[in-house]
Amino acid sequence: MKVISFEGFEYSGKSTQIKLLKKYFIKNNIKSTFTREPGGNKDLEKIRNVILKSNFNNLSLIMFFFASRFALISSIKKNDFIVFDRFFDSTYAYQKYNSKEKKLIISLIKLIDKNFIPKITFYLKLDKKNLIRRKDKRLYSNKFDKKYFGQFSRIQKNYEEISKIKIGERKFVAIDASLSANEVHDKIILNLKKCKLIK
Ligand code: TYD
Repeated sequence: MKVISFEGFEYSGKSTQIKLLKKYFIKNNIKSTFTREPGGNKDLEKIRNVILKSNFNNLSLIMFFFASRFALISSIKKNDFIVFDRFFDSTYAYQKYNSKEKKLIISLIKLIDKNFIPKITFYLKLDKKNLIRRKDKRLYSNKFDKKYFGQFSRIQKNYEEISKIKIGERKFVAIDASLSANEVHDKIILNLKKCKLIK
């Protein structure tokens, strides 16, 4: 089983890249399962709506995200390829404010079935200038996006931090999200080939 994940702040073009990869997999006959967090299956999508509309405090959010994550993992049908649209790095990036939360989140990550630790995490990294430029063209997609928008620097710093923490053998690949969609896609395919995840 080959597992990869996608991460990035709002407006990083994550959804576009996931769509392009899906197309590539279909074209090349690669059997795959694409899933997203929070949510990812019928029951958990209901919880997604509750979480994203909630005013839960931060500790509750950490627990909700991981509860939903463990449930999702246990429900995923094993397939050649599993692609996560957000995974544990999101909880570290968005819900980590202090060292207590850091400890908690890292210990929860360690409980994830090793088979589901991504071989590669693609982090679409956007700088502030481009973030603001893209934001001007779009409305917030949910309450969460609005809540966390002003916390861009903290969240980006957290992504940098987790990229340096050893989690199994996973490779953390940051890609400049200000490149064109096709350029980013090409880099993703190149990395998948380099790591022998695809031919
Ligand atoms: P979503 O619409 O999926 O955002 P995007 O299009 O940017 O992926 O909304 C998911 C929101 O939930 C997003 O603001 C990030 C947040 N989130 C966390 O805060 N912690 C988590 O662990 C996860 C999975 C998501």
